[in-house]
Amino acid sequence: MDRPEIREAYGAYYGEVSHAKGESLGREIVRRASPRLFLKDRLRMLDLGAGTGEFSQGIATALLSEFYGPLDLHLVDRSDGALSHAVNAPRDPRLFISVSRATLPDERPFLPGSFDIVTMANCLAENEHRDESFADLLEEVSNTLRPGGIMLLVEPADKRSSRALLSLGDLLLSRHFPLTLLAPCPGGRVAPCPALAHSDDWCHEDRPADFSETLLKTAESLGHIKDALKMTYLLFGLEGTPLPPSLRLVSPLHKGKGFFSGDFCDGNNWWRIRLLNRNRSDLTRSFTRLHRGETIGTPLVLPLRSGSPRDRRGAMDWPKELPVIRLAHPDGQPFDREAGR
Ligand SMILES: C[S@@+](CC[C@H](N)C(=O)[O-])C[C@H]1O[C@@H](n2cnc3c(N)ncnc32)[C@H](O)[C@@H]1O
Repeated sequence: MDRPEIREAYGAYYGEVSHAKGESLGREIVRRASPRLFLKDRLRMLDLGAGTGEFSQGIATALLSEFYGPLDLHLVDRSDGALSHAVNAPRDPRLFISVSRATLPDERPFLPGSFDIVTMANCLAENEHRDESFADLLEEVSNTLRPGGIMLLVEPADKRSSRALLSLGDLLLSRHFPLTLLAPCPGGRVAPCPALAHSDDWCHEDRPADFSETLLKTAESLGHIKDALKMTYLLFGLEGTPLPPSLRLVSPLHKGKGFFSGDFCDGNNWWRIRLLNRNRSDLTRSFTRLHRGETIGTPLVLPLRSGSPRDRRGAMDWPKELPVIRLAHPDGQPFDREAGR
């Protein structure tokens, strides 16, 4: 990020994507955080590995549409060039930006401090094998959170980055970490993450999104398909309610001969669930409409079955007498059953 041409290319392409990810996750913070987060005169946010600031500007856009006071945003990065780009970018008049140049996780000039929201996006991927030290840093930062405080960690959706973040999450949860995992895992997951039990699994989002014409043209010329926000994330809260027991679809739906199947996570285990579709029915229709990241009600029979839920040789059959109850979209927006969306 120190070279101007890299910053420019990043801003023109990934900047828009990062802003969109920030905005989507910012709306999720508004939805899932404790109301105490917003009971303040001003909000304080810290972004670690902030780069040119588009991600945190996206979060700020979502927060400032719900919160009517000012938002102080402190950006930390090892690149002076990225930070000065961020400071000079246009922004909401209620957003006040300050910066620290620091190489994480060892340099911590922003501490002691107190924050309402701490984010770190796409930074761990550039710091392989430093997860213990990043866990130390995040643990220290978590102790600075004010009532209702939130910590959001985001990494790219590829297998390596995703597994690195999920492992960091497990590391934090297995320490005396004061935060609860609010999303995306159902049922208040503690640790370990079931995606890490098999070396070929990982878990990521694939949220449909619209991008500008310019971005789509650049993507096409690079051979990228840009139709979704792809990322792995963990949202922790000092307070707030973990997701109730439910099943989250963590794979695309697979169409086989006479059946559909998908991998569903209940926070502790992954279940490969199969629906036989010999007859078209309401059940088949609602099952096949599911998208990655959606949550559905848990059939009580699942935990009662014997055998390993992760046995990839077999799949559990969805009980044909049970309806599929769609609970929430990937970002936590409750499903409107009357409107069917
Ligand atoms: C891929 S960019 C992500 C920027 C922004 N968070 C986003 O998601 O759009 C990674 C940023 O992290 C910064 N970074 C990477 N490792 C760092 C470290 N050890 N200490 C401080 N900054 C770091 C880089 O300078 C770069 O600006």
